[in-house]
Amino acid sequence: MARVLVTGGAGFIGSNFVRLLLTTDPAVEVVNFDCLTYAGNLANLADVADNPRHAFVRGDITDREQVRAAMRGVTDVIHFAAESHVDRSIQDSGPFVRTNVTGTQILLDAAREAKVSKYVQVSTDEVYGSLGATGLFTEETPLQPNSPYSASKAGADLLVRAYHHTFGLPAVTTRCSNNYGPYQFPEKLIPLFVSNLLADESVPVYGDGMQIRDWIHVLDHCRGVEAAWREGMPGEVYNFGGRCEMPNIELTKLLLKLLGKPDSLIRYVKDRPGHDRRYAIDCSKAERDLGWTPRVPFDRGLAETIDWYRANAAWVAEIKSGAYREYYEKQYGKLA
Ligand code: NAD
Ligand code: DAU
Repeated sequence: MARVLVTGGAGFIGSNFVRLLLTTDPAVEVVNFDCLTYAGNLANLADVADNPRHAFVRGDITDREQVRAAMRGVTDVIHFAAESHVDRSIQDSGPFVRTNVTGTQILLDAAREAKVSKYVQVSTDEVYGSLGATGLFTEETPLQPNSPYSASKAGADLLVRAYHHTFGLPAVTTRCSNNYGPYQFPEKLIPLFVSNLLADESVPVYGDGMQIRDWIHVLDHCRGVEAAWREGMPGEVYNFGGRCEMPNIELTKLLLKLLGKPDSLIRYVKDRPGHDRRYAIDCSKAERDLGWTPRVPFDRGLAETIDWYRANAAWVAEIKSGAYREYYEKQYGKLA
C-alpha cells in the first residue's frame, strides 16, 4: 500500500487530486498536509473527510519538525502546497519566498531522510516567462520567471533539480498551464468572474484584455500529476496543457454569454504590473512518455464549472465574507 504525503491538499488542485486518488485507487493512503491559509478550506474535502484512507494533518511546510513528523511511514510525496496567486505576490512577495522556496527546501530534506520512492514537484508554466504571438513552452524552454510568484516557483524547481542531481532524490517536476474547475478560490479569473456575474457585479479585466492563457480542466491536470507520480522518470520535467488558448477578453465575453449577462458588466482596470502576455504549452512529451492527454473539452468543462459555482453559492459566500473583502478592495478598489 502506498502512503502518499500530499501537501496543499485542502486547496483547489490539491483537494481535487486527493478526491481523485482516493476514489480511483483502493491501494493508496493519503496524508493530507496543509496549514489552511486563506486558500485552504476543509469544506473542499467534506465528501472525503470520513474516508479511512485519508488523514488530514494541519501543518506548515516551513516547520521542519511538523514536516518530519508527518513524513513517518510515508512512501511518496506529492507537493502542491504553495502561495499561488500572482497578484498577491505583487502586493507582498514575503510569504511566496517563505512557502514556495524555503518550504520546498524543508520538504525536500524530509523526503530525502525518509528515502521516499518518488517526489513530485507540482510546478507551473509561468516559470518559463512569456511567449510572443507564436511558439509553445517545451520542457527545454529556459526559465525566465517574471513575477515574484513565478520566481519563487522557479527557485523551488531548481532546488528539486539540485536534490535529484546531488543526492539522487527520485524527483519529478510537472509544469501545467491555467487550471479551472470546482473548488477554485474566487481570486483567479474564472471563479472570480463567474461568482461576480452570478451576483450581477462587474468583472475587472486587466489592461487591454488581450493576454492569452491556455486553459485546462483541473481533473486533466490531476490525472497528469498522478501519471507523473506513477510513470515519471526521476530527474525529468513534464509539461501539461489543455491546447485551449484564449485571450482574456474573449473568455470574459464567453462567460457573459453563458451566464446571460450584458457586456456593460465589463470593467477595464489598470493592468497587472509585469503582466505576461501569452502562455501556451507543448504537452507532447507527457502524451508520449506518460500516456496522458487532456480529455475535458473546454465548452463542457466551463459549463459544468459554472453549474458548480451556481450550485455552491454558500461555499462562495463563506469565502467572500471577511478577509476576502479587504483583499478585493486593495486589489480592485470599491466595487462598481
Ligand atoms: P491554492 O492556493 O488553491 O492552494 C494552495 C494550498 O496550499 C492551500 O490549501 C493552502 O492552505 C496550502 N498552503 C499554502 N502555504 C502552505 C504552507 N506553508 N504549508 C502547508 N500548506 C500550505 O493553489 P492551487 O491553485 O490549488 O495550486 C496548487 C499548486 O499547483 C501550486 O503549487 C501551484 O503553483 C500549482 N499550479 C497551479 C495552477 C493553477 O492554475 N491554479 C497551474 C499550475 C500549477
Ligand atoms: O499558468 C499557470 C498559473 O495560472 C498558475 O501557476 C497560477 O497559480 C494561477 O494563479 C494562474 O496564474 P494567472 O496569473 O495566469 O491566473 P489568473 O487567474 O490570476 O489570471 C488569468 C489571466 O486573467 C491573466 O492574464 C490575468 C487576467 N486577470 C486576472 C484577474 C484575477 C484579469 O484580467 N482580471 C483579474 O481580475
